[in-house]
Amino acid sequence: MEKQYRDEVFEQAKAWILEAGERIREQIDAPRSIETKSNPNDLVTEMDQNTERFFAEKIKAEYPEHFLFGEEGFGDEIEAVDGTIWIVDPIDGTMNFVHQKRNFAISIGIYHDGIGEIGFIYNVMEDILYSAKKGEGAFKNAERLSDLNDTRPLKESILALNTTWMLPENPHVDHKGIESLVKKLRSTRSYGSAALEFAFVAEGILDGYLTMTLMPWDYAAGAILVQEVGGVVTKADQEPLDLLHKTTVLASRSNIHKEISDDYVTLKGKSDL
Ligand code: IPD
Ligand code: CA
Ligand code: CA
Repeated sequence: MEKQYRDEVFEQAKAWILEAGERIREQIDAPRSIETKSNPNDLVTEMDQNTERFFAEKIKAEYPEHFLFGEEGFGDEIEAVDGTIWIVDPIDGTMNFVHQKRNFAISIGIYHDGIGEIGFIYNVMEDILYSAKKGEGAFKNAERLSDLNDTRPLKESILALNTTWMLPENPHVDHKGIESLVKKLRSTRSYGSAALEFAFVAEGILDGYLTMTLMPWDYAAGAILVQEVGGVVTKADQEPLDLLHKTTVLASRSNIHKEISDDYVTLKGKSDL
């Protein structure tokens, strides 16, 4: 994507995200209708749907040649990465949105022919906008994020990790490896929003994030942010992400990435689920 065009799209997307966040904040205490999707803990609200519809209408009106790949189904059927695709999670961390009214984010990654050009993660209730443009670094509001510290060893690292992966019956990864990893680390965290977990890795307040099931809209923006500060983002077995499927993800500072994957992660099936 040509720089001047990317800058223009960036400013437009930023304005829409701030507007969408403002709408969510205004209605944060309104009564909620909560439905479930794939299982009783997979929640969706009218706010998830209204927010994605807001982006769908804006994108179609302003950029009819762009595609939208969104969680709630207001976008296009995406089967290939060709062209410009907005990969949108209108609310990442819906369980937090419902239960806590905080700790959720709007996540938008804009890709052109499979290359990440623009990433936004908006922590709505804190009014903190993480952003990145390819080759131009990452920002937390107006503050440029530093390149990640690449010397801290694994034993002094904090990794975002869902404790589900430590259960013997989990279908994706050998739990014994994850147990050893947890023992080796300084500590773990679990924020309940993949997008925020990526943003915190990019900010350097987490050393990494390991998960076994993410959809493209969960990681599209976060991958761009983390890579812009020198971090590494792959599937859990170090294969490249492919943007179209549910997948495992390992995002971290570069010096611990291979060690985590090689020494602690043994997948039971494929890394692309
Ligand atoms: C979920 C959150 C959660 C992650 C799940 C995602 P949603 O997204 O990012 O932290 O563990 O895999 O599905 O459903 O709240 O948009
Ligand atoms: Ca999500
Ligand atoms: Ca969501």
